[in-house]
Amino acid sequence: MQPLPLLLAFSACVFAESLSNIRLSGPSTLPPDASKYLNPALASFSIETAFWTSYVGNVSNPNLLTQNLLENLKNRTGVPAEIRVGGITADSTHWNSTLEVALFNFITDDGTLHNTTVGPEFWKTMNLLPEGTNIIFNLDLENLDFEGTLDMATAAVENMKAGQLIGMEIGNEPDHYLHFTPESYTNLWMPWTKNISDALNISAPFFQIAATAEDPLWPYGTAAANAQLDCVSALAAGANNDSTVKTCSEHTYQYSVCDPVRLQQATLVDLVNHTRLAQYLDLWQPRIRSVREQLGSDSFVIGEYNSVSCSGRDGVSNTFGQGLWLLDTTLYAASINVSRLFVHQGGPLALQSSTQLNHGGLSLYDLWYPIENLNGPVKVFPSYSAYLFVAEVIGSSRSLRIGNIYPGRQANGSSITTEMGDESQGQLVVYGFWDDSLSVDFPVKLALLNLQSYNETTEGTRPSTTFDISEYLSESADSVAVRRLQAPGADVKDGNITTWAGQTYANGVAEGVLTEEKIAGGEIAVAASEAVLVFL
Ligand SMILES: *[C@@H]1O[C@H](CO)[C@@H](O)[C@H](O)[C@H]1NC(C)=O
Ligand SMILES: *[C@@H]1O[C@H](CO)[C@@H](O)[C@H](O)[C@H]1NC(C)=O
Ligand SMILES: *[C@@H]1O[C@H](CO)[C@@H](O)[C@H](O)[C@H]1NC(C)=O
Ligand SMILES: *[C@@H]1O[C@H](CO)[C@@H](O)[C@H](O)[C@H]1NC(C)=O
Ligand SMILES: *[C@@H]1O[C@H](CO)[C@@H](O)[C@H](O)[C@H]1NC(C)=O
Ligand SMILES: *[C@@H]1O[C@H](CO)[C@@H](O)[C@H](O)[C@H]1NC(C)=O
Ligand SMILES: *[C@@H]1O[C@H](CO)[C@@H](O)[C@H](O)[C@H]1NC(C)=O
Ligand SMILES: *[C@@H]1O[C@H](CO)[C@@H](O)[C@H](O)[C@H]1NC(C)=O
Ligand SMILES: *[C@@H]1O[C@H](CO)[C@@H](O)[C@H](O)[C@H]1NC(C)=O
Ligand SMILES: *[C@@H]1O[C@H](CO)[C@@H](O)[C@H](O)[C@H]1NC(C)=O
Ligand SMILES: *[C@@H]1O[C@H](CO)[C@@H](O)[C@H](O)[C@H]1NC(C)=O
Ligand SMILES: *[C@@H]1O[C@H](CO)[C@@H](O)[C@H](O)[C@H]1NC(C)=O
Repeated sequence: MQPLPLLLAFSACVFAESLSNIRLSGPSTLPPDASKYLNPALASFSIETAFWTSYVGNVSNPNLLTQNLLENLKNRTGVPAEIRVGGITADSTHWNSTLEVALFNFITDDGTLHNTTVGPEFWKTMNLLPEGTNIIFNLDLENLDFEGTLDMATAAVENMKAGQLIGMEIGNEPDHYLHFTPESYTNLWMPWTKNISDALNISAPFFQIAATAEDPLWPYGTAAANAQLDCVSALAAGANNDSTVKTCSEHTYQYSVCDPVRLQQATLVDLVNHTRLAQYLDLWQPRIRSVREQLGSDSFVIGEYNSVSCSGRDGVSNTFGQGLWLLDTTLYAASINVSRLFVHQGGPLALQSSTQLNHGGLSLYDLWYPIENLNGPVKVFPSYSAYLFVAEVIGSSRSLRIGNIYPGRQANGSSITTEMGDESQGQLVVYGFWDDSLSVDFPVKLALLNLQSYNETTEGTRPSTTFDISEYLSESADSVAVRRLQAPGADVKDGNITTWAGQTYANGVAEGVLTEEKIAGGEIAVAASEAVLVFL
């Protein structure tokens, strides 16, 4: 497809005077390219297998912080976040029916985690999650031990309560081992899924394919791009010939500290930039379209993601800026029809890369530390509150569609970039939410993001942008309700000074007075490094 002429694409969505003032030009009606219905579990989690009991605890010692933080999300949508149990350690996790503890990590004195064993108590920890939590379980492919993988799959199916296990993956990031091509992967993966399905009497498609790590090569459709192992290339090689594929997962990490070269690029200001995160996620658009055509509307998930791979970076991924990145990433991905995103929680693994920055403890990109560890005490990070924002966007609606209002879209569906006319340089972002069951004339909510950098450590007045949303208000609306996601700056690392609707969640539960403003007149001021949810 050709992009729209620049002026048309731009003037169709906004008239921007300057950063201090932006008037959204409408129209207020449902955009023709609005997303599919948002999945209520859009904001979901991936928890590294070896760190499972660190996060969830066990039956005699449940982790109350984790329980409360997950319940807060369920309370807003009525549906729990989904949890994928997996990651690199899933390929070295074994089932042992006589193990007494829930989970055992074999770690040598040099700190290397060699493998993980789970026993019967492990499955009981699934009952510690909010009632109704769906689980996707990641099995081992790398060891090419079909019997071992079948044993684990059998234990998972037999020990989780009916309906809780909604899918299984075989292999984590298989594009990083065994020199798989789409064909050689498919030749193993497909019969394994078929044989496991037969052995366990699973009739409906039950497997989540790929779970691959590498970013798509661009441009799309070249010989090199087609040779990458991913959902689309595996499906093309016949991976669904036996109708075992339910969904597709690919992983996204926009930045990395796995090596010194990429370490230089993993900065806070680059992270908190809409142009950059949209350009990154746009690499997946052709795959998302293809997968949805083949497997259904809700079939493409980002099954593991975070901002900075190899466990994050201090001052970047543990900040409120990461919260703004997480919010924009989740909403932008939803706008290009990603069904659910599973933000990864875990810890650095000694053998992930010989040049990595982080060693030991829990990851610097985690949304909370459920236990004290080498990197700090029990703690909730600012970015947790971004997931509260997303959950409140969705609420109880099951017919909500998201549309990009600012900077808007090109004809091919990609976000308008800084180069193509986003006058805010990737700093101002507006999404609209239309509820199909109510009205297609006006959105029910708007998310206004001001990503302009402002630090707690910055001197001087905090800049602010006023968004004029009057074109989106019906004439009967006299005022709108506004909830804010706030912190003293993008560099803040503490949940106890990060507020959602005026409340902190540093101890797992809401503290402070719920604050919701009523604003008349259609002009909403949003400070630099702040986001607001407007209820129309
Ligand atoms: C998302 O899905 C909707 C409904 O299937 C479709 O109309 C829209 O074009 C899709 N968006 C993109 C970016 O593919
Ligand atoms: C959320 O919690 C409140 C207060 O406990 C409760 O009244 C409400 O029913 C809960 N909502 C859902 C969807 O669980
Ligand atoms: C299983 O766990 C038990 C109890 O810890 C241990 O004695 C046994 O060696 C383990 N089996 C295997 C195959 O690792
Ligand atoms: C549960 O966790 C506690 C605290 O970490 C530990 O001492 C205990 O062995 C665990 N029990 C099981 C069954 O894993
Ligand atoms: C875990 O790794 C250790 C050290 O390599 C090995 O001795 C042990 O057999 C492994 N356990 C399993 C269950 O594979
Ligand atoms: C899967 O089942 C087929 C048919 O029974 C069999 O030929 C094949 O060896 C099995 N594959 C594995 C990995 O067990
Ligand atoms: C297999 O599942 C079907 C329903 O999907 C059921 O009718 C049948 O009894 C099951 N067979 C066994 C051996 O469990
Ligand atoms: C899948 O089916 C197609 C069409 O029948 C066939 O060409 C292809 O070889 C099959 N692939 C596999 C992996 O079975
Ligand atoms: C959309 O078009 C722009 C400009 O030509 C290009 O940079 C971008 O990669 C395209 N995106 C997709 C998903 O094709
Ligand atoms: C955001 O990123 C884009 C693309 O790299 C760049 O052109 C723009 O200047 C950045 N914005 C800011 C405020 O640095
Ligand atoms: C905020 O701090 C980051 C480093 O953490 C720095 O790169 C950025 O320029 C600062 N922003 C402002 C407005 O000073
Ligand atoms: C927030 O927590 C930090 C430690 O993480 C502590 O130093 C600070 O005093 C706390 N601030 C408030 C307002 O409680």
